Amino acid sequence: MHTIAVLPGDGIGDEVVREGLRVLEAVSAVTGFRYKLEHYPYGAEHYLKTGETFPDSALRAMRDHDAILLGAIGDPRIEVGMLERAIIAGIRFGLDLYVNLRPIKLYAEHLCPLRDLTPSQLDLVVVRENTEGAYVGVGGIMKRDTPNEVAICNMVWTREGTERVIRYAYDLARRRGKSKRLTLVDKANAIRPMDIWTRLFERVGKDYPEIETDHAYIDAACMWMVKNPEGFDVMVVSNLFGDIITDLGAMLQGGLGIAASGNLHPGQVSMFEPIHGSAPKYRGKNVACPVATVMAVQMMLDHLGDADGAALVEKAVANALQTRKIPSLSAGAIPTDKAGDLIIEEVKALAGAAG
Ligand code: IPM
Ligand code: MN
Repeated sequence: MHTIAVLPGDGIGDEVVREGLRVLEAVSAVTGFRYKLEHYPYGAEHYLKTGETFPDSALRAMRDHDAILLGAIGDPRIEVGMLERAIIAGIRFGLDLYVNLRPIKLYAEHLCPLRDLTPSQLDLVVVRENTEGAYVGVGGIMKRDTPNEVAICNMVWTREGTERVIRYAYDLARRRGKSKRLTLVDKANAIRPMDIWTRLFERVGKDYPEIETDHAYIDAACMWMVKNPEGFDVMVVSNLFGDIITDLGAMLQGGLGIAASGNLHPGQVSMFEPIHGSAPKYRGKNVACPVATVMAVQMMLDHLGDADGAALVEKAVANALQTRKIPSLSAGAIPTDKAGDLIIEEVKALAGAAG
């Protein structure tokens, strides 16, 4: 029995998480995956009601689960970034979820904004470091709003933090068995301390002689992702660059409506979420695309050991997209609940065909 913490959060979080959980229910009826859900209220409404963002007790409660499913955090009524820092970063840092895994895969050619790019040319995984870099909060602002104002943000990379995420990426390149290529993405030419990535990448690579290594500076990596995405298999990248490059990747696979991520600490409780954010303007309108959350559920099943369930969800989503039953991944293309229905129909059809 797996216990899953559910945090729908803000904006469209509720609506997309509802569909994700309906798909989970349909899949578990097929595979026998057993789970128990526990819902948590954290987000803007809870904060406005109680003054509480994400208390220590909530973080402790998270540790008692096998996985966390998060919808989205962020609300225009509240200071920019306050809830995101408290809840999303709070969980990433608090649970030491040092890998942010972001698959970028094209399921149907018509979804990609690049002319003539076929699904076989876009199937890569970004391994984003998730606990260091520009996100550590080392820095600040002095003399705010004066002519002498100074703003400092330090990027921090530790040997341990860098090495472990690089090792995870090498392992993944080996496990995935695609082209067994791992690309390091950094900016060590201009940001010289990033040389720690270069050195550790080379050193850890000695343990993986069968993995072909490659390197791209972040600016060039953006260029190559558009020009020749088929050249990538697994990419490993620092926190901020990984944040940026995965929005680019999301567009290539058809939009933020499908992009999901797993915040992982192998062997420990991990968190799964769509990467799109709370999109307040779509809230309550039943127009948000739930596919990204469904794909987050897919990653969660895989992480929790139900490989059959994960494969079933992926195939169901692929079918719904390839047949254009879900015509696009944009908001409003199809009602949120209808998209959930269609994926569940595909799950049942696939299960029926197999059984
Ligand atoms: C993401 C988001 C977050 C990030 C924000 C909401 C803090 O953009 O998961 O990609 O920057 O990591
Ligand atoms: Mn982002």
